[in-house]
Parts: sequence; structure tokens; C-alpha cells
Amino acid sequence: MVKKKTCVFISGQGSNLKNLILRSRDKSFPIKISLIISSNNNAKGINYAKKFKIPYQIVNAKHRNPDNKILKSLNKFNISFICLAGYMKIISNKIVNKFEKKIINIHPSLLPKFKGLNTYTKVLKNCEKKTGCTVHYVNNKLDDGDIIVKKIFYINSNDNENTLKKKTQTMEYKAYPEAIIKIFRNR
Ligand code: GAR
Repeated sequence: MVKKKTCVFISGQGSNLKNLILRSRDKSFPIKISLIISSNNNAKGINYAKKFKIPYQIVNAKHRNPDNKILKSLNKFNISFICLAGYMKIISNKIVNKFEKKIINIHPSLLPKFKGLNTYTKVLKNCEKKTGCTVHYVNNKLDDGDIIVKKIFYINSNDNENTLKKKTQTMEYKAYPEAIIKIFRNR
């Protein structure tokens, strides 16, 4: 099997990145992580790039033309698939159009509910009975494209933002690889 050369975009902890790196070492997993792009030079996730010897690049607002820099790197590493994993920047139309249906994202809510930031606060404030995570294709609108995998759990009366985050992220580690397998099984 020829693995898809994949770039993972991060901004923070990188726990989904770590999970994808570990899964992608499996021979039958459809992607190989060939590049990591971080919008933040203090992102803890960069340590996984170093640990697993994966090329990485930091692209932030300090760069004059960040889109061109990103596109150049994607081109250099022959990237044909992109996973956003806690990437807290909006992907520009230029990149989305070039990688149509080839960029996916994970979001910590049951989309279309609670797009954007501060998801756990919004879920609790809205007295939701259930929550979870969603893996979806990226289009030109925020947290909006076609849904690939959604995982749900029921909220307990004693749950708080910390416990919701922990439960949601534990689910994300199953949902993200599952979505990637689903995409390439159908191609
Ligand atoms: C993940 O829980 C992901 O769903 C969320 O950021 C976290 C990143 O954690 N993404 C968003 O909120 C995007 N809208 P990680 O850096 O440990 O993978």
C-alpha cells in the first residue's frame, strides 16, 4: 500500500498529532506523516516532530506571506493530504481551494453545534445532554464541511470543563484515525 504523504497542522499540545504519528507507524494505516506545520513556535506538539524525526516548520503572522510559505513547504514534501489537529488559525481559501476535499479537521463538539472557540464552556452553558467530537472536511467556512465521523457521549451532572475535555479528547484519539481509514477505504 502506498501511504498518502500527509502534513499535520498544529498550534498547541499536539496530543492528536502524537496519536496520529503512532497510528501511522502501522503498515496498514493509509497515511505517512511527512511534515508538521505549527502556527506557534512554543507549541508543545513540536516536541513530537523532534522526537519522531519528522520535518516541521513554524509559520506564523510574522512571515510576510504565510500562505505562500505553507504552500511551498507542502509542495516541497509532495503533500497530498492535510490533517488539522488543534490548528487555531483559519486556513486560507487559497490553500483550501488547492486541496479541495483533501483537508480534514477534528472539532471537540457535535457539529454543526458549537463551532469556533470555547467549545466546552458553550456546551455546559447550553445544558447539553450529550457532546462528543466530529471529524469533517474543511471548506471555506469555519468548522463547516461534510462530516466523516462523529462520536457521542452523555454528559454527567458532575462534569465540568476539565472532565469534558478529557472525555472528548479520549474520543478524538479513536475518531481521527477512524475517519482517515474511512476516507481511504472509499477511494
Ligand atoms: C483538540 O481537542 C481539537 O479538537 C481542538 O483542539 C484540541 C487540540 O488538542 N480543536 C479545535 O478546537 C479546533 N476548532 P491537541 O493539540 O492536544 O491535539
